[in-house]
Amino acid sequence: MNYDIVIIGSGPGGYVAAIRAAQLGLKTAIIEKYPTLGGTCLNVGCIPSKALLDSSEHYHNAAHNFKTHGVDLENLTVNLSQMMKRKTEVVKQNCDGIVYLMKKNKIDTYYGIGSFKDKNTINVTASDGTVTTLTTKNAIIATGSKPTPFPNIPLDKKRIISSTEALAFETLPKSLIIIGAGVIGAELGSVYARLGTQVTMIEYLGSMIPTMDATMGKELQKSLSKLGMKFFFNHKVTNINNKGESVDVTAEDKQGKTIQFEAEYCLVCIGRKPYTEALGLENAGVEVDEKGRIKVNEHLETNVKGIYAIGDVVRGAMLAHKAEEEGVFVAEWIVGQKPHINYLLIPNVVYTWPEVASVGYTEEELKAEKIEYKVGTFPFKALGRSRASMDMDGVVKILADKNTDEILGAHIIGPRAADMIAEAVVAMEYRASAEDIARMSHSHPTYTEAFKEACLAATANRALHM
Ligand code: FAD
Ligand code: NAI
Repeated sequence: MNYDIVIIGSGPGGYVAAIRAAQLGLKTAIIEKYPTLGGTCLNVGCIPSKALLDSSEHYHNAAHNFKTHGVDLENLTVNLSQMMKRKTEVVKQNCDGIVYLMKKNKIDTYYGIGSFKDKNTINVTASDGTVTTLTTKNAIIATGSKPTPFPNIPLDKKRIISSTEALAFETLPKSLIIIGAGVIGAELGSVYARLGTQVTMIEYLGSMIPTMDATMGKELQKSLSKLGMKFFFNHKVTNINNKGESVDVTAEDKQGKTIQFEAEYCLVCIGRKPYTEALGLENAGVEVDEKGRIKVNEHLETNVKGIYAIGDVVRGAMLAHKAEEEGVFVAEWIVGQKPHINYLLIPNVVYTWPEVASVGYTEEELKAEKIEYKVGTFPFKALGRSRASMDMDGVVKILADKNTDEILGAHIIGPRAADMIAEAVVAMEYRASAEDIARMSHSHPTYTEAFKEACLAATANRALHM
């Protein structure tokens, strides 16, 4: 079969690229090696983790907050198999939705491993060994990423596990060691700590979510400590040992003092690495960089003309919405449009409770780049809406240019921060000043008032409710 464009990988990068390409009139095919579409995001990432975060949050609220709201419950228990069943159904609905979208947009779907024979020829090897050959003018590599294992200690998937196994426990672990206090550690740690698992986090650096604005990590740790989670920062893991029924982890602090941990499982979440296995990149002449990422230029084109790469397999944040933007970008670029992505304004969200969301520069980055800035903060506990819902942890932090008042960064930890960050993205895309936002009406009572108040605070320190 001949195509204008063939996309390898059906995650949020690949399937969105396919839809946009088809909308633009390109004859499009997509290849997926697994029997379900949607990639990491739908199958073992964003969607199942959010399903379990929502379920565990309901349980936590029922156990700890309902009584204060005047809702009394007796004999509350966790039904983990029902929680997992619902999660699986949510995943299936989403994956089926992608099959529908492919059909609706007349995109040919091939199930099997996609591999370049040469720059315009791609073989698809199905699970029964059948090979189908596709020829194409353009190709997009959207093969995503895989968990990074611990150096010299493989993930045995039984006791030493990745997020994939941690999303599918059959029984509730009594104890869980998490190595890496990044996004996966924070989210999956929250899920199981809420359900009653003793969660211990070991992190190499000095705080949680260390790449985000430092205020966020500090506040998040305070909130997660309330769930009983234990934290060991500045600790270097030196060994992990599967003992059959449990796992031992050895770590060293900065002074070289050794500390021993034991738990039922050890979740390793120390980042993800680009996935390019079996792609036959060498047959097409596509180059990768020192981190194994496919090298691309500013148009997401590889060193081979007509072959593009997007999402987790290239440089930049490993986020579903970043992959989606890149998918749209490439499809539009191929047909001669002039698309643009503002990478600075791709928001980052951690779906704990309180949620953490940020966009733009962190305070640490502004300092490093010697940009003069001012800070406006507003705590959720000063907000009527937060008192009504009892969601009082967290703060909004706005960073604005000291001279022009333009918003340079927005960092929110608090209720519904994940949704609220959209206001900051719009404001910053249109280069709003803190005063612009401070002068706009925000409905009362809502959490968004904290955003307005933080902008007021950044504008000559004139928050109204502090
Ligand atoms: P992927 O989604 O990884 O898809 C790549 C696809 O390519 C896979 O289906 C794979 O099977 C297929 N493939 C690979 N090689 C071949 C081949 N040779 N032939 C055919 N098919 C192939 N991001 C967010 O923005 N928000 C979140 O809340 C979020 N939560 C996450 C939670 C977890 C636990 C994890 C692990 C990740 C999460 N992410 C989240 C990250 C997000 O999942 C990724 O950034 C996103 O899926 C990347 O999309 P992609 O299209 O580049 O690749
Ligand atoms: P991460 O990069 O978020 O965090 C990894 C953490 O592990 C860092 O804090 C790092 O300092 C620490 N670390 C690295 N090596 C270590 C070692 N040897 N010992 C101890 N700690 C070590 O990576 P994570 O959590 O694995 O997630 C992978 C990616 O998946 C994220 O970067 C993100 O892009 C994506 N993701 C996004 C989510 C979201 O958007 N809500 C949710 C989950 C994942």
